[in-house]
Amino acid sequence: MAIALFLTGKDETQWQQAIHRLDPNIPVYTPKDAFSDDQITFAVLWRHPQGLLQRFKNLRAVCSAGAGLDHIRTDPDVSPGVVVYRIVPDSLIRAMVEYATYAVLFFYRRFDKYAELRQQQKWLQLPQNSPADIRIGVMGAGKIGEAIIRHLRQMGFVVTGWAKHRRMISDVVIEAGLQALPQFLSQQDILLMVLPAERELRDLLNEERIKYLKKGIRLINLGRGDVIRESDLLMAIASGQIEAAFLDVFATEPLSGSHPFYNHPRIHITPHIAALTDVDDAAAEIAKYYRQSHQ
Ligand code: GLV
Repeated sequence: MAIALFLTGKDETQWQQAIHRLDPNIPVYTPKDAFSDDQITFAVLWRHPQGLLQRFKNLRAVCSAGAGLDHIRTDPDVSPGVVVYRIVPDSLIRAMVEYATYAVLFFYRRFDKYAELRQQQKWLQLPQNSPADIRIGVMGAGKIGEAIIRHLRQMGFVVTGWAKHRRMISDVVIEAGLQALPQFLSQQDILLMVLPAERELRDLLNEERIKYLKKGIRLINLGRGDVIRESDLLMAIASGQIEAAFLDVFATEPLSGSHPFYNHPRIHITPHIAALTDVDDAAAEIAKYYRQSHQ
């Protein structure tokens, strides 16, 4: 019984040490260690190579090293009997709420416009709104989406949601289903997407649905990039249908150096940093799930 860490782009030794600090009795291996594949009952994965899991015949559980499960859901070697965990510590939710709030305030307080005016050496005071004048549509209402919805609502914005299941989050209506999308999209001043990567959601925001948006809407995406068809977004910004976008995630990451988003004056980008998983918080969740799956 042991944990294997396969974390592309992350320092596996740091994760191993953090788990050992919590519980030195849990055997944890990185790809650099010598171990027998048959020992591995729990694999912690981040963008792992396809085929990897075929090595581990005694696997009981896999755990994503972050909130997203894309790399696990698309792996045909995760057999139905294997339990799937993901790591969503409070610190990650807090960071996502911070990022969402920053991006919303950036547009709501017109910092994008003021940056443009400054470039033109223009001193101009634009009208100031109040949050109650701004309708924000949040797409995705899992743990992270829900926290964002509650926070923006508390700030006084007019919030509605769209997610898998229709429900209420305090006084916020969460719509569901593709048939609800045209009306939902047409109502928003800011559209904030925090959807996971799922086959059915791919290219959800495409040319056809962009037509439903209110002209001049501002778009924020901090979920997964493949829910937006990027070529259609570029066209929508060129036509003014979408005024500007604030994006942390992209259809293909890392974004290639020649990608048009880098130099676009109305597209504000960050390199998938909305919430970086805290290693100690993650280690605590991994140790908990490891024990759970070995009871
Ligand atoms: C980050 O994108 C995560 O899934 O944790």
